[in-house]
Amino acid sequence: MIVCSCTVISDRDIEVALVEILSQPNAPIPTPGVVYRHLAKRMNCCGCAPFAVETIYDKVGELERRGAISANVGAATRSKLLEFNAWRARLRGKIGPASTPVESEPIAREIA
Ligand code: FES
Repeated sequence: MIVCSCTVISDRDIEVALVEILSQPNAPIPTPGVVYRHLAKRMNCCGCAPFAVETIYDKVGELERRGAISANVGAATRSKLLEFNAWRARLRGKIGPASTPVESEPIAREIA
């Protein structure tokens, strides 16, 4: 499934990048920017950002369930992604419209 049509990044590309990124010591928060840079791509229109965040969040959980990343790394990464998403939502509240339902969905699922 294509996540970013500008740069032709698929969910599988994101999965592979996440395994590589999260296996690094002191791995960064795998934001879309981090993942896209890891794939030697750069966001263009940013229209895919909410879907990319959701895909990254879901893939981290999937990789954890499959044992491709440890439970500790998965939990820490999901926590960091939730903080990142909350920060983005707060920032958007100050300078633009509130986040879309797609962006807030992982947060809602985590809280539920
Ligand atoms: S759809 Fe991803 S940058 Fe445009």
